[in-house]
Amino acid sequence: MARKIIVSNRLPVKVRRADGTMTFEPSEGGLATGLGSVYKEGENIWLGWPGLCVEESEEQQVITELQKERMQPVFLTESDIKEYYEGFSNETLWPTFHYFSQFAVYEQSYWEAYYRVNQKFCEQIVKFANPDDTIWIHDYQLLLLPSMVRESLPDSTIGFFQHIPFPSYEVFRMLPWRKQILQGLLGADLIGFHTYDDVRHFVSSVIHLVGLAASHGIIETGNRSVMVDAFPMGIDYDKYAQTANSEKVSGMVQEFQEALRHRKIILSIDRLDYSKGIPQRLRAFEMFLKQYPEFHEQVTLIMIVVPSRDQVEKYKELKIEVDELVGRINGLYRTLSWAPVQYYYHSFPFEELSAFYRMAHVALVTPMRDGMNLVCKEYIASRNDGTGVLILSEMAGAAKELSEAILINPNDVHQMVGALQQALIVPEENQRVAVASMQATVQKYNIHHWVNLFMDRLTYAKEKQNALKTT
Ligand code: F6P
Repeated sequence: MARKIIVSNRLPVKVRRADGTMTFEPSEGGLATGLGSVYKEGENIWLGWPGLCVEESEEQQVITELQKERMQPVFLTESDIKEYYEGFSNETLWPTFHYFSQFAVYEQSYWEAYYRVNQKFCEQIVKFANPDDTIWIHDYQLLLLPSMVRESLPDSTIGFFQHIPFPSYEVFRMLPWRKQILQGLLGADLIGFHTYDDVRHFVSSVIHLVGLAASHGIIETGNRSVMVDAFPMGIDYDKYAQTANSEKVSGMVQEFQEALRHRKIILSIDRLDYSKGIPQRLRAFEMFLKQYPEFHEQVTLIMIVVPSRDQVEKYKELKIEVDELVGRINGLYRTLSWAPVQYYYHSFPFEELSAFYRMAHVALVTPMRDGMNLVCKEYIASRNDGTGVLILSEMAGAAKELSEAILINPNDVHQMVGALQQALIVPEENQRVAVASMQATVQKYNIHHWVNLFMDRLTYAKEKQNALKTT
C-alpha cells in the first residue's frame, strides 16, 4: 500500500538531554497538529532531525523512542549543525529569503554541507520509502531534496511546501547557488507557497535563471510538468478557541489581570529573529509613550521573546539590542507600580499563552517580513469575547487574508505609533465586527483545510503527470 512520508528539518518532538538521560516530549506546533492525522495513520512516518547532536551510543534509544510516535530520526553531526543548519540554512538562505541580503554569508563550505545533509535526508527516505509512496518535503532547509529523491525514486509523488517567503528574482539571484537551488526544487510534482506573490517570484526566478517556460502555475521541465500554487497555512482553530474558553485559562486571565492592575495590554510574541521587527516595534512603543503621556500607567506591553538560533551571530547581536531597548524604555518611563514593558525571554506553556491572548486588548504583530505568521491567527482564534484589535504588518503573508486588521508598514515608525493610539480607542462595536470577520476566515481556512488542500492538489498533479506519460 502506498504510504505518506512527511519530511522536515526538525521532527515534531522536543528531545532533551539532562544529567545523561534523554527525554522526549511531543511538540505543540501547528504543523505537528495538522499533520498528526497524516503521519500517524497506517504505515506513514515523519522523518527529520531530533534537534540535538546525538552520540552514537544513544542513537538506538532515540530510534526506538521516536518509532513509537511514527517518527524516524536523521542524525546530524556537530559540523552538520554548524554548517548546514546554522550556516547555509540560517546565515545564507534565511536572510536572503527575508530580504536581509546584507546579512547573508556566502560560504562554499556551508553550501557543501547543505548539499551533503540534503543527501543524508535523501538516503534515509530511500531506506524507508517504497517507489509509489507520497513524500511531502517541508521548508528551506531541504530545497535540494525533491530532485535528489526524484533521481532515486523516479515514480514517487513528491510535494514541497515552503514555510518562509520566496524573495523577488532580483534578490534571489544574488545567491551564488541560485540555479542549483531551483533545480533542486523542480524535482517535486507540486511546489506550494503561502502567497501568490511567493509563487510569482519563484516562477520568475525559474524563467530567468533556468530558462524554462511556465504558464498558469505549470512549469514544463522537458520531461515533466511541475505545478506551483499558493496554500496559505492555517492554525488548529478549535484547539485555540476551546483552550481560551477553558476554566483553567479563565482562572489564569483573572490572576494575570489582577497582577497587572487591569491595565490595557498590548501583546507581542515572537521567536527572537531580526525578520520579526522586534527593535522597530520597541522603538514605536517608546515613541508612543513620548507622544501620548495620557497612556502612561494605563497600558503595558507584554513582550514574549522565545529564544531561537542563539549560536548564530546576528541572533546574538539582536538579543543585546532588544535587552538594551527594553532597559532604556523601562528606565525612562517606569514608576514604582508600573513597568511599561514586561519582557520575557523564554517560551510559555500553551495555556498561559492562551491567557495572554485572551487578556490582550491589542496584538502587535509587526514583522519586517514573514512567510505567513501564525501568532496573529492564534490571537484571533483566542478572542472568545469577540473583542480585540490586531495591528498587523503588511509584510506578513497573513495580511492578505486578515484585511480587517490595522495594517502597517513596519518601516514606518510614525504609522505604528498612530496605529497603537488608534487601537487603544477603537469602539467595542467596531472591534467586534472586525474580529468576527477575521474569526470566520481563520476558522474556515484552518490547518486541516490546508493539509487536505495540499494533499488533494498533489494527487491531482500526479494524476495529470501520469496521464501525460501514457498519451
Ligand atoms: O518559519 C520557519 C521555521 O523553520 C519553522 O518551520 C520553525 O518552526 C521555525 O522557523 C523555527 O526554526 P528552527 O527550527 O530553526 O528553530
